Amino acid sequence: MNEYDSEKMLDVLCHECDMQITKNESEADVLLLNTCSIREKAQEKVFSQLGQWRSLKENNPNLLIGVGGCVASQEGDALARRSRHVDVVFGPQTIHRLPELFDQVRRDKTINNNKAVVDISFPEIEKFDCLPEPKADGPTAYVSIMEGCSKYCTYCVVPYTRGEEFSRPLKDVMWEVKSLAKQGVREVTLLGQNVNGYRGLDEHGEIIDFSLLVYNVSKVNRIERIRYTSSHPIEFSENLINAYAELPELVNHVHLPVQSGSDSVLSAMKRGHTALEFKSIIRKLRKYRPNVSISSDFIVGFPGETDKDFEDTLKFVEEIGFDQSYSFIYSRRPGTPAAFFDDDVKLEVKKERLQRLQHLINRMSSEYSNAMLDTDQIVLVEGLSKKSDKEYSGRTENNRVVNFSVPQEVKDTVIGNFVLLNISDVFSNSLRGTYLETLH
Ligand code: 5AD
Ligand code: SF4
Repeated sequence: MNEYDSEKMLDVLCHECDMQITKNESEADVLLLNTCSIREKAQEKVFSQLGQWRSLKENNPNLLIGVGGCVASQEGDALARRSRHVDVVFGPQTIHRLPELFDQVRRDKTINNNKAVVDISFPEIEKFDCLPEPKADGPTAYVSIMEGCSKYCTYCVVPYTRGEEFSRPLKDVMWEVKSLAKQGVREVTLLGQNVNGYRGLDEHGEIIDFSLLVYNVSKVNRIERIRYTSSHPIEFSENLINAYAELPELVNHVHLPVQSGSDSVLSAMKRGHTALEFKSIIRKLRKYRPNVSISSDFIVGFPGETDKDFEDTLKFVEEIGFDQSYSFIYSRRPGTPAAFFDDDVKLEVKKERLQRLQHLINRMSSEYSNAMLDTDQIVLVEGLSKKSDKEYSGRTENNRVVNFSVPQEVKDTVIGNFVLLNISDVFSNSLRGTYLETLH
Protein backbone atom coordinates (compact mmCIF):
# COMPACT_ATOMS: atom_id res chain seq x y z
CA MET A 1 0.00 0.00 0.00
CA ASN A 2 2.83 2.37 0.84
CA GLU A 3 4.61 1.58 -2.42
CA TYR A 4 1.39 2.40 -4.26
CA ASP A 5 0.99 5.64 -2.30
CA SER A 6 4.62 6.61 -2.99
CA GLU A 7 4.06 6.10 -6.71
CA LYS A 8 1.00 8.34 -6.49
CA MET A 9 3.03 11.05 -4.71
CA LEU A 10 5.50 10.96 -7.58
CA ASP A 11 2.73 11.02 -10.19
CA VAL A 12 1.09 14.04 -8.57
CA LEU A 13 4.31 16.04 -8.20
CA CYS A 14 5.72 15.21 -11.63
CA HIS A 15 2.36 15.83 -13.31
CA GLU A 16 1.09 18.93 -11.58
CA CYS A 17 4.27 20.63 -10.38
CA ASP A 18 6.55 19.60 -13.20
CA MET A 19 9.05 18.13 -10.76
CA GLN A 20 11.63 15.54 -11.74
CA ILE A 21 12.83 12.64 -9.69
CA THR A 22 16.46 12.54 -8.53
CA LYS A 23 18.25 9.74 -6.74
CA ASN A 24 20.69 12.24 -5.27
CA GLU A 25 19.38 13.70 -2.00
CA SER A 26 21.79 16.60 -2.01
CA GLU A 27 20.52 18.01 -5.32
CA ALA A 28 16.83 17.75 -4.39
CA ASP A 29 14.59 20.80 -3.88
CA VAL A 30 11.98 18.63 -2.21
CA LEU A 31 12.50 15.53 -0.07
CA LEU A 32 9.52 13.35 0.74
CA LEU A 33 9.39 10.62 3.32
CA ASN A 34 6.56 8.09 3.20
CA THR A 35 6.22 6.42 6.56
CA CYS A 36 4.83 3.34 8.28
CA SER A 37 3.77 3.03 11.91
CA ILE A 38 2.66 -0.59 11.96
CA ARG A 39 5.52 -1.48 14.33
CA GLU A 40 7.70 0.64 16.59
CA LYS A 41 10.86 -0.03 14.59
CA ALA A 42 9.38 1.37 11.37
CA GLN A 43 8.33 4.47 13.29
CA GLU A 44 11.79 4.96 14.82
CA LYS A 45 13.37 4.89 11.37
CA VAL A 46 11.39 8.00 10.44
CA PHE A 47 13.04 10.11 13.09
CA SER A 48 16.51 8.83 12.35
CA GLN A 49 16.04 9.61 8.63
CA LEU A 50 14.75 13.08 9.45
CA GLY A 51 17.78 13.61 11.67
CA GLN A 52 20.05 12.84 8.70
CA TRP A 53 18.19 15.29 6.49
CA ARG A 54 18.68 18.14 8.96
CA SER A 55 22.19 18.89 7.64
CA LEU A 56 20.94 18.96 4.03
CA LYS A 57 18.50 21.66 5.04
CA GLU A 58 21.25 23.62 6.77
CA ASN A 59 23.25 23.59 3.51
CA ASN A 60 20.23 24.45 1.39
CA PRO A 61 17.64 26.62 3.20
CA ASN A 62 15.31 26.45 0.16
CA LEU A 63 15.00 22.71 0.51
CA LEU A 64 11.46 21.60 1.43
CA ILE A 65 10.89 18.45 3.46
CA GLY A 66 7.54 16.64 3.52
CA VAL A 67 6.53 13.69 5.68
CA GLY A 68 3.53 11.56 4.70
CA GLY A 69 2.01 8.20 5.59
CA CYS A 70 0.87 6.70 8.86
CA VAL A 71 3.48 8.24 11.20
CA ALA A 72 2.52 11.65 9.85
CA SER A 73 -1.14 10.79 10.33
CA GLN A 74 -0.58 9.67 13.89
CA GLU A 75 1.72 12.47 15.00
CA GLY A 76 0.34 15.43 13.01
CA ASP A 77 1.46 18.77 14.51
CA ALA A 78 3.59 16.95 17.08
CA LEU A 79 5.85 15.69 14.28
CA ALA A 80 6.43 19.23 13.04
CA ARG A 81 7.14 20.42 16.58
CA ARG A 82 9.61 17.60 17.19
CA SER A 83 11.37 17.99 13.81
CA ARG A 84 11.35 21.73 13.12
CA HIS A 85 13.00 21.34 9.72
CA VAL A 86 9.90 19.55 8.36
CA ASP A 87 7.76 21.83 6.13
CA VAL A 88 4.79 19.68 5.17
CA VAL A 89 3.01 16.92 7.09
CA PHE A 90 0.38 14.99 5.13
CA GLY A 91 -1.56 11.76 5.68
CA PRO A 92 -2.29 8.74 3.49
CA GLN A 93 -5.52 10.41 2.34
CA THR A 94 -4.15 13.82 1.39
CA ILE A 95 -1.49 12.83 -1.15
CA HIS A 96 -3.44 14.54 -3.95
CA ARG A 97 -3.20 17.84 -2.07
CA LEU A 98 0.63 17.85 -2.13
CA PRO A 99 0.93 20.57 -4.84
CA GLU A 100 -1.39 22.84 -2.82
CA LEU A 101 0.47 22.11 0.42
CA PHE A 102 3.84 22.96 -1.15
CA ASP A 103 2.38 26.16 -2.67
CA GLN A 104 1.11 27.15 0.73
CA VAL A 105 4.41 26.52 2.48
CA ARG A 106 6.25 28.58 -0.16
CA ARG A 107 3.72 31.42 0.25
CA ASP A 108 4.08 31.29 4.03
CA LYS A 109 7.86 31.44 3.77
CA THR A 110 7.74 34.65 1.72
CA ILE A 111 6.01 36.33 4.69
CA ASN A 112 8.49 34.76 7.09
CA ASN A 113 6.04 32.26 8.50
CA ASN A 114 8.15 29.15 8.85
CA LYS A 115 5.51 26.97 10.46
CA ALA A 116 4.89 23.59 8.88
CA VAL A 117 1.72 23.07 6.87
CA VAL A 118 -0.18 20.07 8.26
CA ASP A 119 -3.04 18.22 6.55
CA ILE A 120 -3.80 14.77 7.86
CA SER A 121 -7.55 14.76 7.25
CA PHE A 122 -9.49 11.83 5.71
CA PRO A 123 -11.32 13.15 2.62
CA GLU A 124 -11.21 9.60 1.11
CA ILE A 125 -13.25 9.99 -2.04
CA GLU A 126 -11.35 13.15 -2.95
CA LYS A 127 -8.00 11.34 -2.91
CA PHE A 128 -8.99 8.86 -5.60
CA ASP A 129 -10.87 11.45 -7.63
CA CYS A 130 -7.92 13.78 -7.87
CA LEU A 131 -5.15 11.40 -8.82
CA PRO A 132 -3.73 11.56 -12.34
CA GLU A 133 -4.31 8.67 -14.79
CA PRO A 134 -2.12 5.74 -13.71
CA LYS A 135 1.05 5.09 -15.68
CA ALA A 136 2.03 1.48 -16.23
CA ASP A 137 5.61 0.56 -15.47
CA GLY A 138 5.88 -2.97 -16.89
CA PRO A 139 3.32 -5.77 -17.12
CA THR A 140 2.27 -5.75 -13.45
CA ALA A 141 0.49 -3.01 -11.53
CA TYR A 142 -1.19 -2.23 -8.24
CA VAL A 143 -4.75 -0.90 -8.16
CA SER A 144 -6.04 0.47 -4.90
CA ILE A 145 -9.69 -0.50 -4.43
CA MET A 146 -10.28 0.81 -0.95
CA GLU A 147 -8.78 2.79 1.88
CA GLY A 148 -8.66 2.24 5.60
CA CYS A 149 -9.81 -0.56 7.83
CA SER A 150 -12.78 -0.97 10.20
CA LYS A 151 -11.75 -4.25 11.78
CA TYR A 152 -9.98 -2.74 14.80
CA CYS A 153 -7.79 -5.73 15.68
CA THR A 154 -6.63 -4.85 19.17
CA TYR A 155 -2.90 -4.53 18.27
CA CYS A 156 -3.22 -2.53 15.07
CA VAL A 157 -2.87 1.22 14.37
CA VAL A 158 -4.21 1.12 10.81
CA PRO A 159 -7.85 2.05 11.57
CA TYR A 160 -6.56 5.13 13.43
CA THR A 161 -3.97 6.24 10.87
CA ARG A 162 -5.83 5.42 7.65
CA GLY A 163 -9.39 5.78 8.88
CA GLU A 164 -12.44 3.58 8.39
CA GLU A 165 -12.95 1.38 5.33
CA PHE A 166 -13.92 3.31 2.27
CA SER A 167 -14.44 1.59 -1.11
CA ARG A 168 -13.85 3.21 -4.47
CA PRO A 169 -16.85 3.03 -6.81
CA LEU A 170 -16.75 0.10 -9.25
CA LYS A 171 -16.56 2.38 -12.27
CA ASP A 172 -13.40 4.10 -10.99
CA VAL A 173 -11.61 0.83 -10.25
CA MET A 174 -12.58 -0.53 -13.66
CA TRP A 175 -11.42 2.64 -15.41
CA GLU A 176 -8.01 2.29 -13.76
CA VAL A 177 -7.71 -1.43 -14.60
CA LYS A 178 -8.73 -0.85 -18.23
CA SER A 179 -6.34 2.05 -18.58
CA LEU A 180 -3.47 -0.10 -17.25
CA ALA A 181 -4.44 -3.03 -19.51
CA LYS A 182 -4.27 -0.72 -22.54
CA GLN A 183 -0.74 0.19 -21.48
CA GLY A 184 0.37 -3.46 -21.51
CA VAL A 185 -0.42 -4.55 -17.94
CA ARG A 186 -1.28 -8.26 -17.76
CA GLU A 187 -1.39 -8.74 -13.99
CA VAL A 188 -3.09 -6.53 -11.42
CA THR A 189 -2.82 -6.66 -7.66
CA LEU A 190 -5.96 -5.26 -6.05
CA LEU A 191 -4.91 -3.38 -2.97
CA GLY A 192 -6.54 -2.54 0.31
CA GLN A 193 -5.95 -3.07 4.01
CA ASN A 194 -8.76 -5.57 3.92
CA VAL A 195 -9.90 -6.09 0.34
CA ASN A 196 -12.69 -8.49 1.09
CA GLY A 197 -14.39 -5.70 3.00
CA TYR A 198 -14.84 -4.05 -0.43
CA ARG A 199 -18.36 -2.66 -0.86
CA GLY A 200 -18.21 -0.38 -3.90
CA LEU A 201 -21.25 1.05 -5.63
CA ASP A 202 -21.98 0.34 -9.29
CA GLU A 203 -23.59 2.91 -11.61
CA HIS A 204 -27.10 1.86 -10.42
CA GLY A 205 -26.17 2.43 -6.79
CA GLU A 206 -26.05 -1.34 -6.11
CA ILE A 207 -23.41 -2.63 -3.70
CA ILE A 208 -20.69 -4.71 -5.36
CA ASP A 209 -18.77 -6.99 -3.02
CA PHE A 210 -15.19 -8.15 -3.50
CA SER A 211 -16.06 -11.36 -5.36
CA LEU A 212 -18.18 -9.40 -7.87
CA LEU A 213 -15.37 -6.92 -8.31
CA VAL A 214 -12.99 -9.79 -9.11
CA TYR A 215 -15.45 -11.14 -11.71
CA ASN A 216 -15.60 -7.69 -13.30
CA VAL A 217 -11.81 -7.32 -13.39
CA SER A 218 -11.42 -10.82 -14.86
CA LYS A 219 -13.44 -9.69 -17.90
CA VAL A 220 -11.01 -6.91 -18.80
CA ASN A 221 -9.24 -7.75 -22.01
CA ARG A 222 -5.58 -8.80 -21.55
CA ILE A 223 -5.76 -8.96 -17.74
CA GLU A 224 -4.79 -12.57 -17.22
CA ARG A 225 -3.69 -12.60 -13.62
CA ILE A 226 -5.44 -11.18 -10.58
CA ARG A 227 -3.78 -10.98 -7.19
CA TYR A 228 -4.99 -9.13 -4.11
CA THR A 229 -3.67 -8.12 -0.73
CA SER A 230 -4.49 -8.06 2.10
CA SER A 231 -7.56 -10.03 3.08
CA HIS A 232 -9.26 -11.04 6.30
CA PRO A 233 -10.64 -14.50 7.13
CA ILE A 234 -13.97 -13.20 8.47
CA GLU A 235 -14.98 -11.80 5.09
CA PHE A 236 -13.54 -14.53 2.91
CA SER A 237 -16.96 -15.31 1.45
CA GLU A 238 -18.32 -18.46 -0.20
CA ASN A 239 -18.70 -16.40 -3.38
CA LEU A 240 -15.01 -15.54 -3.33
CA ILE A 241 -14.12 -19.20 -2.76
CA ASN A 242 -16.39 -20.19 -5.67
CA ALA A 243 -14.62 -17.65 -7.87
CA TYR A 244 -11.52 -19.85 -7.58
CA ALA A 245 -13.46 -22.61 -9.36
CA GLU A 246 -14.57 -20.32 -12.16
CA LEU A 247 -11.85 -17.75 -12.78
CA PRO A 248 -8.49 -18.94 -14.09
CA GLU A 249 -7.32 -15.31 -13.77
CA LEU A 250 -7.27 -15.65 -9.96
CA VAL A 251 -3.73 -16.86 -9.30
CA ASN A 252 -3.00 -20.04 -7.41
CA HIS A 253 -1.77 -18.09 -4.41
CA VAL A 254 -3.71 -16.55 -1.53
CA HIS A 255 -2.24 -14.29 1.11
CA LEU A 256 -4.53 -14.63 4.10
CA PRO A 257 -3.22 -13.24 7.41
CA VAL A 258 -4.13 -15.39 10.41
CA GLN A 259 -1.76 -13.94 13.10
CA SER A 260 -2.01 -16.93 15.47
CA GLY A 261 -3.15 -20.55 15.64
CA SER A 262 -4.44 -20.23 19.20
CA ASP A 263 -8.12 -19.44 19.76
CA SER A 264 -7.50 -17.54 22.98
CA VAL A 265 -4.90 -15.30 21.30
CA LEU A 266 -7.18 -14.80 18.27
CA SER A 267 -9.93 -13.75 20.64
CA ALA A 268 -7.66 -11.32 22.54
CA MET A 269 -6.63 -9.88 19.17
CA LYS A 270 -10.34 -9.49 18.31
CA ARG A 271 -9.86 -11.24 14.99
CA GLY A 272 -13.45 -12.54 15.03
CA HIS A 273 -12.72 -16.15 13.96
CA THR A 274 -11.25 -19.36 15.33
CA ALA A 275 -8.36 -21.46 14.04
CA LEU A 276 -10.88 -24.06 12.88
CA GLU A 277 -12.81 -21.48 10.85
CA PHE A 278 -9.58 -20.49 9.11
CA LYS A 279 -8.87 -24.13 8.34
CA SER A 280 -12.34 -24.52 6.91
CA ILE A 281 -11.71 -21.68 4.42
CA ILE A 282 -8.48 -23.33 3.29
CA ARG A 283 -10.12 -26.73 3.01
CA LYS A 284 -12.84 -25.27 0.73
CA LEU A 285 -10.27 -23.39 -1.36
CA ARG A 286 -8.21 -26.54 -1.82
CA LYS A 287 -11.29 -28.38 -3.03
CA TYR A 288 -11.14 -26.18 -6.14
CA ARG A 289 -7.41 -25.53 -6.17
CA PRO A 290 -5.53 -28.49 -4.69
CA ASN A 291 -2.14 -26.83 -5.29
CA VAL A 292 -3.00 -23.34 -4.07
CA SER A 293 -0.16 -21.78 -2.13
CA ILE A 294 -1.26 -20.11 1.11
CA SER A 295 0.85 -17.41 2.72
CA SER A 296 0.06 -15.51 5.89
CA ASP A 297 1.10 -13.02 8.57
CA PHE A 298 1.87 -14.02 12.15
CA ILE A 299 2.43 -12.09 15.35
CA VAL A 300 4.35 -13.81 18.15
CA GLY A 301 4.54 -12.76 21.78
CA PHE A 302 1.13 -11.09 21.88
CA PRO A 303 0.26 -10.15 25.50
CA GLY A 304 -0.85 -13.28 27.33
CA GLU A 305 0.51 -15.72 24.71
CA THR A 306 1.51 -18.84 26.67
CA ASP A 307 3.90 -21.61 25.62
CA LYS A 308 0.83 -23.71 24.83
CA ASP A 309 -0.66 -20.94 22.64
CA PHE A 310 2.60 -20.74 20.73
CA GLU A 311 2.80 -24.52 20.34
CA ASP A 312 -0.76 -24.38 18.96
CA THR A 313 0.46 -21.88 16.35
CA LEU A 314 3.32 -24.17 15.31
CA LYS A 315 0.95 -27.12 15.05
CA PHE A 316 -1.46 -25.00 13.03
CA VAL A 317 1.29 -23.92 10.62
CA GLU A 318 2.26 -27.57 10.05
CA GLU A 319 -1.34 -28.60 9.52
CA ILE A 320 -2.09 -25.90 6.96
CA GLY A 321 1.32 -26.08 5.25
CA PHE A 322 1.92 -22.36 4.74
CA ASP A 323 4.11 -21.00 1.97
CA GLN A 324 6.48 -17.97 2.32
CA SER A 325 4.91 -15.91 5.12
CA TYR A 326 5.65 -12.89 7.25
CA SER A 327 6.08 -13.11 11.01
CA PHE A 328 6.69 -10.35 13.53
CA ILE A 329 7.27 -9.86 17.21
CA TYR A 330 4.30 -8.05 18.75
CA SER A 331 4.98 -4.32 18.94
CA ARG A 332 2.96 -2.22 21.36
CA ARG A 333 1.25 0.62 19.48
CA PRO A 334 0.11 3.59 21.58
CA GLY A 335 -3.59 4.29 21.24
CA THR A 336 -4.59 0.71 20.42
CA PRO A 337 -6.60 -1.43 22.90
CA ALA A 338 -3.73 -3.94 23.28
CA ALA A 339 -1.44 -1.12 24.47
CA PHE A 340 -3.35 -1.41 27.77
CA PHE A 341 -2.79 -5.18 28.02
CA ASP A 342 0.01 -6.43 30.22
CA ASP A 343 2.87 -7.06 27.72
CA ASP A 344 3.95 -10.04 29.79
CA VAL A 345 5.99 -12.17 27.38
CA LYS A 346 9.72 -11.64 27.93
CA LEU A 347 11.69 -10.29 24.96
CA GLU A 348 14.01 -13.34 24.87
CA VAL A 349 10.96 -15.60 24.75
CA LYS A 350 9.45 -13.53 21.93
CA LYS A 351 12.71 -13.72 19.98
CA GLU A 352 13.03 -17.44 20.46
CA ARG A 353 9.42 -18.01 19.37
CA LEU A 354 9.96 -15.87 16.28
CA GLN A 355 13.02 -17.88 15.34
CA ARG A 356 11.25 -21.21 15.75
CA LEU A 357 8.25 -20.03 13.73
CA GLN A 358 10.40 -18.59 10.95
CA HIS A 359 12.45 -21.74 10.80
CA LEU A 360 9.30 -23.83 10.36
CA ILE A 361 7.81 -21.48 7.75
CA ASN A 362 11.07 -21.43 5.77
CA ARG A 363 11.19 -25.20 5.81
CA MET A 364 7.63 -25.44 4.51
CA SER A 365 8.26 -22.81 1.88
CA SER A 366 11.33 -24.75 0.61
CA GLU A 367 9.09 -27.79 0.34
CA TYR A 368 6.78 -25.80 -1.95
CA SER A 369 9.79 -24.72 -4.03
CA ASN A 370 11.33 -28.20 -4.21
CA ALA A 371 8.03 -29.63 -5.39
CA MET A 372 8.26 -27.24 -8.35
CA LEU A 373 11.49 -28.79 -9.61
CA ASP A 374 11.07 -30.24 -13.12
CA THR A 375 7.48 -28.97 -13.44
CA ASP A 376 6.33 -26.63 -16.21
CA GLN A 377 5.34 -23.19 -14.92
CA ILE A 378 3.73 -20.17 -16.52
CA VAL A 379 5.76 -17.05 -15.84
CA LEU A 380 4.91 -13.44 -16.62
CA VAL A 381 8.15 -11.88 -17.88
CA GLU A 382 8.74 -8.60 -16.04
CA GLY A 383 12.15 -7.62 -17.40
CA LEU A 384 15.84 -8.42 -17.39
CA SER A 385 17.18 -10.42 -14.48
CA LYS A 386 18.73 -8.40 -11.64
CA LYS A 387 21.94 -10.40 -11.81
CA SER A 388 22.59 -10.57 -15.54
CA ASP A 389 21.34 -8.53 -18.47
CA LYS A 390 21.55 -11.65 -20.64
CA GLU A 391 18.80 -13.27 -18.61
CA TYR A 392 15.14 -12.51 -18.04
CA SER A 393 13.08 -12.62 -14.92
CA GLY A 394 9.45 -13.09 -14.01
CA ARG A 395 7.14 -14.62 -11.45
CA THR A 396 5.20 -17.84 -11.19
CA GLU A 397 1.60 -17.82 -10.03
CA ASN A 398 2.76 -18.56 -6.50
CA ASN A 399 4.97 -15.49 -6.63
CA ARG A 400 8.39 -17.05 -7.01
CA VAL A 401 11.01 -15.23 -9.03
CA VAL A 402 12.37 -17.32 -11.93
CA ASN A 403 15.45 -16.36 -13.97
CA PHE A 404 15.95 -17.84 -17.42
CA SER A 405 17.48 -17.22 -20.83
CA VAL A 406 15.56 -17.25 -24.10
CA PRO A 407 16.41 -18.01 -27.74
CA GLN A 408 17.73 -15.05 -29.75
CA GLU A 409 14.60 -14.83 -31.93
CA VAL A 410 12.20 -14.08 -29.04
CA LYS A 411 14.46 -11.66 -27.15
CA ASP A 412 12.73 -8.56 -28.47
CA THR A 413 9.20 -9.67 -27.68
CA VAL A 414 9.41 -11.67 -24.50
CA ILE A 415 9.10 -8.90 -21.88
CA GLY A 416 5.47 -8.34 -20.90
CA ASN A 417 4.38 -11.79 -22.16
CA PHE A 418 3.65 -15.11 -20.52
CA VAL A 419 6.16 -17.90 -21.14
CA LEU A 420 6.19 -21.58 -20.28
CA LEU A 421 9.33 -22.64 -18.41
CA ASN A 422 10.55 -25.91 -17.01
CA ILE A 423 11.98 -25.41 -13.52
CA SER A 424 15.56 -26.68 -13.58
CA ASP A 425 17.02 -25.35 -10.29
CA VAL A 426 15.66 -24.31 -6.92
CA PHE A 427 17.53 -21.74 -4.80
CA SER A 428 16.50 -20.19 -1.50
CA ASN A 429 15.21 -16.92 -2.99
CA SER A 430 14.63 -17.75 -6.63
CA LEU A 431 14.27 -20.49 -9.23
CA ARG A 432 15.93 -21.09 -12.58
CA GLY A 433 13.92 -22.19 -15.60
CA THR A 434 14.43 -23.52 -19.12
CA TYR A 435 12.45 -21.68 -21.78
CA LEU A 436 9.89 -23.84 -23.59
CA GLU A 437 7.59 -21.40 -25.42
CA THR A 438 5.95 -17.98 -25.39
CA LEU A 439 2.26 -18.40 -24.69
CA HIS A 440 0.43 -15.29 -25.87
N1 5AD B 1 2.90 -5.65 16.13
C1 5AD B 1 3.43 -6.60 15.31
N2 5AD B 1 2.93 -6.85 14.10
C2 5AD B 1 1.85 -6.15 13.70
N3 5AD B 1 1.14 -6.19 12.55
C3 5AD B 1 0.16 -5.27 12.63
N4 5AD B 1 0.23 -4.62 13.81
C4 5AD B 1 1.27 -5.15 14.49
C5 5AD B 1 1.83 -4.92 15.77
N5 5AD B 1 1.33 -4.00 16.59
C6 5AD B 1 1.40 -7.16 11.48
C7 5AD B 1 0.19 -8.11 11.27
C8 5AD B 1 -0.39 -7.61 9.97
C9 5AD B 1 0.85 -7.11 9.25
C10 5AD B 1 0.60 -6.17 8.13
O1 5AD B 1 1.60 -6.45 10.27
O2 5AD B 1 0.68 -9.42 11.13
O3 5AD B 1 -1.08 -8.63 9.25
FE1 SF4 C 1 -5.00 -3.92 11.12
FE2 SF4 C 1 -5.45 -5.79 9.21
FE3 SF4 C 1 -6.74 -5.91 11.62
FE4 SF4 C 1 -7.34 -3.98 9.85
S1 SF4 C 1 -7.66 -6.23 9.59
S2 SF4 C 1 -7.06 -3.70 12.04
S3 SF4 C 1 -5.33 -3.55 8.94
S4 SF4 C 1 -4.50 -6.14 11.20
